[in-house]
Amino acid sequence: PVPGWAIDADVVVVGSGVAGLTTALRCTAAGLRTVVVTKARLDDGSTRWAQGGIAAALGEGDTPEQHLSDTLVAGAGLCDEAAVRTLVTEGPDAVRRLIGTGARFDTSETGDLQLTREGGHHRRRIAHAGGDATGAEISRALVDAVRDASLRTVENALVLDLLTDEHGNTSGVTLHVMGEGQHDGVGAVRAPAVVLATGGMGQVFSATTNPPVSTGDGVALALRAGAEVSDLEFVQFHPTVLFLGAGSEGQQPLVSEAVRGEGAHLVDADGVRFMLDQHELAELAPRDIVAKGIMRRMREQGAQNMYLDARHFGADMWATRFPTILAACRAHGIDPVTEPIPVAPAAHYASGGVRTDLRGRTTVPGLYACGEVACTGVHGANRLASNSLLEGLVFAERIAADIAAVAAAPSPVPPAARPTTARAESAAVLPLIAPEARLKIQRIMSEGASVLRSATSLGVAAEALEAVFQEALRPADPTGPGKPAQPGVESWETSNLLCVARVLVAAALEREETRGCHWRDDFPERDETDWRRHLVVRLGTGRA
Ligand code: SIN
Repeated sequence: PVPGWAIDADVVVVGSGVAGLTTALRCTAAGLRTVVVTKARLDDGSTRWAQGGIAAALGEGDTPEQHLSDTLVAGAGLCDEAAVRTLVTEGPDAVRRLIGTGARFDTSETGDLQLTREGGHHRRRIAHAGGDATGAEISRALVDAVRDASLRTVENALVLDLLTDEHGNTSGVTLHVMGEGQHDGVGAVRAPAVVLATGGMGQVFSATTNPPVSTGDGVALALRAGAEVSDLEFVQFHPTVLFLGAGSEGQQPLVSEAVRGEGAHLVDADGVRFMLDQHELAELAPRDIVAKGIMRRMREQGAQNMYLDARHFGADMWATRFPTILAACRAHGIDPVTEPIPVAPAAHYASGGVRTDLRGRTTVPGLYACGEVACTGVHGANRLASNSLLEGLVFAERIAADIAAVAAAPSPVPPAARPTTARAESAAVLPLIAPEARLKIQRIMSEGASVLRSATSLGVAAEALEAVFQEALRPADPTGPGKPAQPGVESWETSNLLCVARVLVAAALEREETRGCHWRDDFPERDETDWRRHLVVRLGTGRA
């Protein structure tokens, strides 16, 4: 579509979670004309839903080195150690600056931060707010700071594509805005730096902890722009999502790992604790191991869910420490004070994404990526619990510093310097996909590319996704029931979902091993000889 209006800026930040708003605030503080565009309202998106907290070596006796070690173990051999070192050493001060921005974390009577544990952490390291509403508090503080700074924001704006100049350098984005008055319809924000902070892609599956806006828009845009994307096969399934019945679809309520961190037990249908003999950390093993443990026991028992038993917390602790989860359970007729909570794994986090270097630069000059949409190398094959808010914070600050430095010494921004092993895919002309296909794509993915995968299940998923793609390419029969897709937010989102789903399934098929959160029934072992490497994808550009 042709832009009908334009805004000029030094930097445009796409997305308004912890990564986007921190980048925007730091860019503004550096004197850059900054515009934030976001698909819904400023506080919609995944950050607001984060429960457990933010991990950093803030407690007495803890060190970045110990945090590094836990992160590398969880990442199952695929973390970039330099990226993890950056995260864990810069993390504690970044959290302190977030507190300086106004985020109120839970503290003891003496004013020290209260810290909890989660899976894969060998010590209490996770700062939290409002008990189990950490993301909501961080979002509140950042949105308030953005408003105080009179930062320019455009809400209800779906970004369509990257603009580049004749040298291939980023020159802004096109976007579609609804209901925002002066800037409505298709427009452009022109800026030499674009920061993708669009969050994840959990909506590619039919059951997910992610809100409806998490449709992989940033990864799809980056692919269309010719950027490299890596590690998409590593989708993290959160082990304990409130089980609302077989076939329950859409966003599902999370039951934070912090509940296990405070001593809740996972039990099977007979009330037996089944994680005790699976890992030295039992219920607090890294997330992929707990999810696998649950799935195995479900298979053995022919059950659709397991249970999280925290009755021993008592009513007071439930009300003060986990008020959000207590309310969500009760809203669904479950009282965790008197009964075990039914839980099952659901899609939660994309450990992969748009490949960046330590300054957040992607392989397209002037295009940055930050937060869940990015693949900085800190998560490897499986993100350590509560490292995601921290990653958003730390790399947002680095990106803002890089953009400010480039603006002070203007020259085209060279792209990420890491050596590439990308496979160039055939130039893909992506058709527009009708919104009716969304549920179909989600079901295909949940059937074939979920926690437990095999060549057979992934092959069926790949074929079914190809059929959706081919269907969209066929001219619609005006006399038939199918309608051609019309341009609009829902069809663009559905197109993005199909795009990331196809790349994800191709990567999952190609990785013939089990590692981190990628679990192959037909290749149950980790293969250090052939697979201690990343799958990097770059599509040809082009869009119908
Ligand atoms: C949780 O609270 O269990 C989620 C934390 C995370 O995803 O890092």
